[in-house]
Order: sequence, then structure tokens, then C-alpha cells
Amino acid sequence: MKAEKARIDDVPRIHKLVNSFGSQGLMLPRPLSEIYENMRDFYVVREDGEVVGCGALHICWEDLLEVKSVAVLEGNQGKGVGSILVNACLEEAKSLDVAEVFVLTYEPDFFVRFGFKQIDLMDLPRKVWGECQRCPKYPDCDENAMVLKLKPQSKAKW
Ligand SMILES: CC(C)(COP(=O)(O)OP(=O)(O)OC[C@H]1O[C@@H](n2cnc3c(N)ncnc32)[C@H](O)[C@@H]1OP(=O)(O)O)[C@@H](O)C(=O)NCCC(=O)NCCS
Repeated sequence: MKAEKARIDDVPRIHKLVNSFGSQGLMLPRPLSEIYENMRDFYVVREDGEVVGCGALHICWEDLLEVKSVAVLEGNQGKGVGSILVNACLEEAKSLDVAEVFVLTYEPDFFVRFGFKQIDLMDLPRKVWGECQRCPKYPDCDENAMVLKLKPQSKAKW
């Protein structure tokens, strides 16, 4: 199994996958339009040609990227698909030479495995004053904010 960049015809499947967990409150639902707009951020893993997992790397600012919408089809979980997707995002982040990557998640223990550490959401002001304001839960965010420093000396100016 390997991660590959999403194709435009993967978008309906990505939308269905993300929103299947969104409707259970396990991640934020995303409108179809947002997935098309950000399609170039997405990686997918396929099995027998079908998308079984997705994940995205989104550029927020000069020195800050977000891993988002990591989702694996229920029957395919626990086989390494989620890790392949997160690692693909982190490899791309490293190739862009950014200092830090963050994630907002209800599954902090999964992201700890990659070196992410919990922080206060209010330490991510560009995120809070940008996309978060459009979230239906704003300002009562109940996700875990986590950061991975790709450059140990980083003092990112968010
Ligand atoms: C969280 C999720 C992406 C993990 O994907 P996955 O393909 O099952 O993960 P992997 O098979 O790569 O798991 C790698 C390791 O992490 C562990 N792991 C998986 N999910 C975990 C979780 N929620 N908490 C802690 N550890 C977890 C696995 O047990 C495995 O451990 P091992 O290497 O010791 O066997 C998947 O369960 C999912 O899609 N959940 C619903 C959506 C969601 O919550 N997404 C989170 C991002 S916002």
C-alpha cells in the first residue's frame, strides 16, 4: 500500500469518507466544495482501485502547515493506512522546509505516535482567526490541538 496524490474523480469518495466520520462527531464534516477547492492537498490510499483512506496537508502560513481530514474506511483500519497517509503528509512538509506541522483531532493518541505534542488551541491564532471562525462549534472547540516541530529550534511566528 502507498499514498498517492488524489485525483479529481476521488473527491466524491473522499467527501463520503470524511463525512461518514463527521456525522458521528469523530471529525469535522467538510462540504463537497471545500474538498474540491483543496483537492491538491489530499493523499489517498487505494485497495483494488478503491479509495480506502485519505489525508491532507494544508499550507496555513510561512512556517505552519496542517495535517487534516485523515480518515480510513472502518473495515480497513488497523492495517497501517492511517500511518501511510500521515507519513506522506509529513514527508511533503519536510520537503517544503517548514518548521512546524499541527493537527486538530479527537484522536490525540494516534498522532502522539508521530511525535505530535499537545498545545493550547489559543497558541494557533492564525488558525483560530481564520478557518476556525467558520466552524459550527466556534468558539467552543473540543478538538485537541497538537504540534510537531520539524525543526527542533523552531520558534514559529504564527
Ligand atoms: C485514526 C485513524 C486515522 C487511524 O487509521 P488506521 O489506518 O487505523 O491507523 P494505523 O493502522 O496506521 O495505526 C497505526 C498504529 O496506531 C494505532 N492507532 C490507530 N488508531 C489509534 C487511535 N485512535 N488512538 C491510538 N492509537 C491508534 C494502531 O493500533 C497502530 O498501532 P501499532 O502500530 O502498534 O499496531 C482511523 O482510525 C480513522 O479513520 N478514524 C476515524 C477518523 C478520525 O478520527 N480521524 C483522526 C484524524 S482527525
